[in-house]
Amino acid sequence: MANKIIKGSSSPLRGEITPPGDKSISHRALILGSLANGKSVVSGFLISDDTLSTANAMRLLGARINIDGTQVEISGLGINGLSEPEQIIDCGNSGTTTRLLCGLLSAQNFTSTLTGDQYLQKRPMRRVVDPLTLMGARISGEENGNKLPLTIDGGRLHGVSYRLPVASAQVKSAILLAGMYADGETEVIEPEPTRDHTERMMSYLGVPLEKNGGTIKISRVDAIEPGGIVVPADLSSAAFFIVAALITPGSEILLKDVGINPLRAGIIDILRAMGGDITVLNEREVNGEPIGDILARSSDLHGIEIGGELIPKAIDELPLAAVAASFAQGNTLIKDASELRVKETDRISAMAKELGKLGVEVEEFEDGMRVLGAESLSGATCSSWGDHRIAMSIAVAATRARGETEITDADCVSVSYPGFFEVIDELRS
Ligand code: S3P
Repeated sequence: MANKIIKGSSSPLRGEITPPGDKSISHRALILGSLANGKSVVSGFLISDDTLSTANAMRLLGARINIDGTQVEISGLGINGLSEPEQIIDCGNSGTTTRLLCGLLSAQNFTSTLTGDQYLQKRPMRRVVDPLTLMGARISGEENGNKLPLTIDGGRLHGVSYRLPVASAQVKSAILLAGMYADGETEVIEPEPTRDHTERMMSYLGVPLEKNGGTIKISRVDAIEPGGIVVPADLSSAAFFIVAALITPGSEILLKDVGINPLRAGIIDILRAMGGDITVLNEREVNGEPIGDILARSSDLHGIEIGGELIPKAIDELPLAAVAASFAQGNTLIKDASELRVKETDRISAMAKELGKLGVEVEEFEDGMRVLGAESLSGATCSSWGDHRIAMSIAVAATRARGETEITDADCVSVSYPGFFEVIDELRS
């Protein structure tokens, strides 16, 4: 539970880095690689608490996974090769591990139990249990299956057509993983487009999927081909440096090989609409995912309204958008974002409270917040709320606050970005 002190300064950010690998894609590489027929090699893998939770889970299910730096070798077991775990699977802080595994484990011929840390145990699971139950899954857990620990008594599933009540890539992915084993056709209908890394990786590994507008269809899969998977750098991690550069005069940074999947890149759209000077260079594709190098320069930002279809595309970056808004001229309204309340913590309350301590005026709504750009921020003692993205968002604000800011329980950044504080110091020096 280490605290971190950030000294506010006007030192510009300068330099060139490749941020760590994409968290969402790293999870999926471990899961699909474990189900492939033979050896897959993953490069650019993110080593963090969350992805190690998935690695640990897949090992308990029988996969051999050798992690050597950012290179991972997975000896896939074949789609029907998983075996009953000898212990409860601890998903740590990772919602992605939990929800994707719910889908996968529902279809196995054994029983397994998933649990997680104090934060994950508070998060809603009915959203994934409901559609899987319709497919024939037997899942029981606290609060009528809404909370961990969940016990999944795996078995035969059948396809369904399911319209997601909330836009969620984790729930969509759970249904698609279950759909690979189900009798008949499984159809997921999205209310709004969400990140499609599962679909892209499945297609890359030879799993047939049909996509038509907001509808994705999958049928029983006999085999998954192993493949070399290159994981792009994580835009969600890169975004902290982009905002730090935009709000610090004289900054210019280049972030290399970053995933720019349009369903993830909402933060770039938001920051550009606020007046951010962001250029994407050298656009190309790796295993079906678009990537590019991102050049960000200091900019004068102004307030905007953020809502609708942009929300799922920037869901993990909305706390950071609130930081950018704190340094912008005028008001920024974030709406349609009630999902933020059920993330690793309640990210609306967390940002309203912590930015407030730094001297920013924030009005909290059930589905978002209004942030009034401040003349200047003052250092304070802030809490991370045990949430990695809150810790890093506050750290970015603190780089431009007067004096020192102490962030309590800051080591939770290891959930997605273990070296974050060292890298931001490096770019500022
Ligand atoms: C993720 C989906 C999103 C996101 C999370 C990662 C994924 O969650 O917030 O950090 O990898 O599929 P939801 O599906 O709950 O929106």
